[in-house]
This record gives sequence, C-alpha cells and structure tokens, in this order.
Amino acid sequence: MADKLKILGIAGSLRKASYNRAALRAAQKLAPQDATIEIFELDGIPGFNQDEEKNPPRKVSELKSKVRAADAILLVTPEYNYSIPGVLKNAIDWASRPYGDSAWNGKPVAVMGASIGLFGTVRAQYHLRQSFIFLNMDAVNQPEVTIGNAQDRFDAHGNLMDEQSKALIRKLIRNLTDKARQIQEAHAPSLAA
Ligand code: FNR
Repeated sequence: MADKLKILGIAGSLRKASYNRAALRAAQKLAPQDATIEIFELDGIPGFNQDEEKNPPRKVSELKSKVRAADAILLVTPEYNYSIPGVLKNAIDWASRPYGDSAWNGKPVAVMGASIGLFGTVRAQYHLRQSFIFLNMDAVNQPEVTIGNAQDRFDAHGNLMDEQSKALIRKLIRNLTDKARQIQEAHAPSLAA
C-alpha cells in the first residue's frame, strides 16, 4: 500500500468539552485505513500582530510546519454569531503570513462543524470557504457535514453517537483523501521516457 495520507485536523474551539473537538476525534476513528488524522490544538496562539509576522511565536511556527507537512487539512468549526470563531480565523491568518509564505497554499481541505443550533454551523462553514478562495486551498464540496443539535448527538463522554453524522464524516474524509491523492498523482514526476 502507498504511504498513509497525513491529514492535519484543527478544531476551532478551546473548550474542554467542545463538540467540535469531539467531532474531530470521531473523524480520527472514522478515517480510512490509508489515512491518519493528527490533531493540532490551537491553545496558546496569541492574537495576530502583523508586526510579528516575520518572526512569529513558536506555536505559530509549529502550526505552519505541521500544515506544510500535511497532505490535507480538516477544519472543524463551531459557529459564533453566524461566523467563524476568532481562534480559528486567527490561526488561519497567522499561518497565511507573511504575504507569499502562506502554509495553506494549494492544500486540499475539508470542513465540518457542530453546533447546538439547528443549522449545525452552515454559516460559519460558508465563511471559511470564502477564505479558501484567497488562500488557494482546494476544498471538498460534498458532503456537507453540519452536526446540528449537537447536545443530542454526542454522549456525556464526547463520543459521537449519531450514525448519520458518522456516515457523512466517513464520506467526507474519503473524498478528502481521494482529492489529495489526485493532486499528488498530478504532481508526481512522470516515469515515461
Ligand atoms: C454560539 N453558539 C452559536 N451556535 C450557532 O448555531 N450559531 C451561532 O451563531 C452561535 N453563536 C455563538 C456565539 C458565541 C460567542 C458562543 C460562545 C456560542 C453556540 C455554539 O453552537 C455552542 O456554544 C457550541 O457548543 C460551540 O462549539 P464547541 O465549543 O462545543 O465546539
């Protein structure tokens, strides 16, 4: 079998009992055998300051290295006030700078999210997709994984119990790995003489 595909998973919540971090842990378990999902925690990343972008904090350098080393990115976003939580947008901004040195450039990416609201982060996900355009990220469009009423879909230990959500996550990760492999094949050196 070819090398395992490396996915970097980032959840946009620092909350201990976060549904989105729980959904990311579920994705780790649901990933296909030919892929692994490493989780990067956003705690400790300070607010973005453009004065520091050429000499970023250690945690930001670590994030940029992990993004660069990954074959694909999985973002799991909460929805705050109909949009992307500051901690996630902040991390995206740091890793996109300085101009011309974005770690996100060309990366395949998938999005999912969980909220206690009915719509399960759809608005936050659309806002993230806007950023992917400028970041030149290659987004998986389907399926949309929007885990609404999250309080009913996870147990008290943060295990995802909802079979429909699990099936959608499985499909999303499969589509992400397919896209990542297609991109790798397109860039592989040709063996033809
Ligand atoms: C929320 N929440 C929320 N939910 C939603 O569906 N749409 C929204 O616009 C908002 N807005 C919002 C703003 C702020 C500041 C907070 C703190 C919360 C509720 C949100 O879905 C809930 O807190 C989730 O539990 C957050 O995700 P984690 O931390 O569980 O991953």
